[in-house]
Amino acid sequence: MNCCLFLPFMVGVSLLRPCLTATENSKAEEAKPPQGSPTRLKSGWIWNQYFVEEEMNVTKDIGRLSSNMHNGSNSLKYKISGDGAGSIFFINGTTGVLSVAQKLDREKQAFYNLKAHLIDITTGQAVESESEFVVKVTDINDNEPKFLQEPYEAVVPEMSPEGTFIIQVTARDADDPLCNNNARLVYELLQGQPYFSIEPTTGVIRTSSKMDRELQDSYWVIVQAKDRIGLPGALSGTTRVLITLSDINDNIPTFKTGLYRMNVSESAPIGTSVGIIMAHDRDIGENAEMDYSIENDDSQTFDIITNNETQEGIVILKKKVDYEQQAYYHVRAKVKNRHVDKQLKKYHTVASTTLIRVRVEDEDEPPVFLLPYYVLEIFEESPQGSLVGVVSATDPDENRCPIRYSISKSNTFQIDDNGTITTTHPLDREMRAWWNFSITATELYNEEQTSEVPVYVQVLDINDHAPEFPELYKTYVCENASSGQEIQTISAVDKDDSIERPNFYFNLSVEDTENSKFTIRDNQELVLAFKKRLSSTYSS
Ligand SMILES: *[C@@H]1O[C@H](CO)[C@@H](O)[C@H](O)[C@H]1NC(C)=O
Ligand SMILES: *[C@@H]1O[C@H](CO)[C@@H](O)[C@H](O)[C@H]1NC(C)=O
Ligand SMILES: *[C@@H]1O[C@H](CO)[C@@H](O)[C@H](O)[C@H]1NC(C)=O
Ligand SMILES: *[C@@H]1O[C@H](CO)[C@@H](O)[C@H](O)[C@H]1NC(C)=O
Ligand SMILES: *[C@@H]1O[C@H](CO)[C@@H](O)[C@H](O)[C@H]1NC(C)=O
Ligand SMILES: *[C@@H]1O[C@H](CO)[C@@H](O)[C@H](O)[C@H]1NC(C)=O
Ligand SMILES: *[C@@H]1O[C@H](CO)[C@@H](O)[C@H](O)[C@H]1NC(C)=O
Ligand SMILES: *[C@@H]1O[C@H](CO)[C@@H](O)[C@H](O)[C@H]1NC(C)=O
Ligand SMILES: *[C@@H]1O[C@H](CO)[C@@H](O)[C@H](O)[C@H]1NC(C)=O
Repeated sequence: MNCCLFLPFMVGVSLLRPCLTATENSKAEEAKPPQGSPTRLKSGWIWNQYFVEEEMNVTKDIGRLSSNMHNGSNSLKYKISGDGAGSIFFINGTTGVLSVAQKLDREKQAFYNLKAHLIDITTGQAVESESEFVVKVTDINDNEPKFLQEPYEAVVPEMSPEGTFIIQVTARDADDPLCNNNARLVYELLQGQPYFSIEPTTGVIRTSSKMDRELQDSYWVIVQAKDRIGLPGALSGTTRVLITLSDINDNIPTFKTGLYRMNVSESAPIGTSVGIIMAHDRDIGENAEMDYSIENDDSQTFDIITNNETQEGIVILKKKVDYEQQAYYHVRAKVKNRHVDKQLKKYHTVASTTLIRVRVEDEDEPPVFLLPYYVLEIFEESPQGSLVGVVSATDPDENRCPIRYSISKSNTFQIDDNGTITTTHPLDREMRAWWNFSITATELYNEEQTSEVPVYVQVLDINDHAPEFPELYKTYVCENASSGQEIQTISAVDKDDSIERPNFYFNLSVEDTENSKFTIRDNQELVLAFKKRLSSTYSS
């Protein structure tokens, strides 16, 4: 215990002297007579003020009661009553010497109120009226300062200017604040310099340099409170303060590498993820959120979207690529903070960029026909092996694989390796005017790579059919029919293309023409027959 530690020192000093000057200022004492000047309070009591130092563990005389009513008679005795009389404080009835027999603790009880009596023991009567007096316990520095609100934690934004308030810590000392600075405290940092400082008297902790959260995000500061400034026998108490730096957006995201290499297949559809780029932001939380974008892509082929979960940039295909056209792309990407505090703009003047090199991977692609479809013509009745037309497909790949053509399930047409389509037999338009089928092109060295194209073959008409009468006409004519009377209209049909139709000519057959009683008139499509005057029945 501290009391034990300091007791030898205390013993060397006058027991009555510590803290007396301080005590004189105490209000409680103002009514009392000044120390050392004996005064008649009542009729006959004379005393000094009594002091006893706390934590004394030996019986000790602390003063003497005296009354001038005491005439020296042995029958007169001094007595005391009140706080601690007979247990803590004792009096020699003969001499009036007051002593203390117990260790006292000022912090528990600082004053003892007692009464002095002078008794004639033969009569038991008080010779003098009783009088109150006080024993005051004087302080020694036996209590160390204690911090009140432990644990202490505080947050301050990083990069705060020097002198920014962080927290105030306060300690209390149970000792007498009026005695020897026993309770007057001075704060000092045992740990935490040079980043923090503390005001010695108030305990206010401030920053004393700019701190970067990205270097260190929290500090343990140890504060000491010490009493008895400048005097020996000081006691101290310490506390720990956890100071955490909060983040400000003082870092831009930067790419981990200046070049990303990616591959994309030329067969990849639009929207395919080509690869991932990643920047790092040393800030945290919202301050670390970023947005990626394309800074430079002349080809307009790629786009970047930001994955909000992982903070990665996903490079996606915006347009289809063709290895045979362009095998490499160079794209520059950029990353920026999503949230920028205006006041922190100075930290964001340049944006980080990176180069993305995309290699297009060649795919074995199927043959491509020159035309999306073919419309071909052939005259009917053309002999077997006649040319219908030529189709052509090529392999888009670099190696230009030769192509083989085929027509499935057709014994009307055949195709050779040059894509030339020929007939296997003459065609009859009147039987079938269109032949629609598809032609398959197959790569010679990779039969899985095939493609098809539709072919429409129109069979063209030739005049290979004579006109025909659609029916056998049976015509009757009255005998009194007049010459030139119309008796029948006839018409003809032709299986050939209808465009030919107006070109029918109607004649009576040669035999009939010799002595015919009928004539025929070509009326484009209508034919009129005229009867001669001498009529009889004819068939024509
Ligand atoms: C009183 O204090 C002294 C010095 O610390 C010590 O040596 C002694 O034993 C103590 N006596 C009692 C009765 O506590
Ligand atoms: C002292 O005073 C007491 C009480 O007043 C008295 O009884 C006694 O005789 C006195 N003695 C002397 C020696 O005067
Ligand atoms: C009172 O003091 C006297 C003189 O010092 C002494 O002789 C006497 O024994 C003391 N009485 C008691 C009860 O201690
Ligand atoms: C891209 O393709 C090349 C060649 O096949 C290969 O070496 C490289 O590892 C590929 N890169 C990626 C990111 O897949
Ligand atoms: C990510 O968040 C931003 C802002 O909230 C939003 O505009 C964007 O569409 C989000 N991206 C995705 C892929 O959800
Ligand atoms: C294909 O065309 C080439 C050049 O015109 C010719 O030499 C070859 O004989 C043709 N092949 C066939 C099967 O007709
Ligand atoms: C063939 O194609 C032609 C032109 O598209 C069309 O007019 C005709 O009706 C088709 N014929 C058959 C049998 O599909
Ligand atoms: C022919 O005779 C019939 C009946 O005899 C008559 O109805 C008709 O009008 C005559 N025609 C002419 C042209 O005379
Ligand atoms: C048949 O008609 C053609 C054309 O009108 C004409 O040249 C020819 O002489 C006619 N023949 C007969 C027998 O009337």
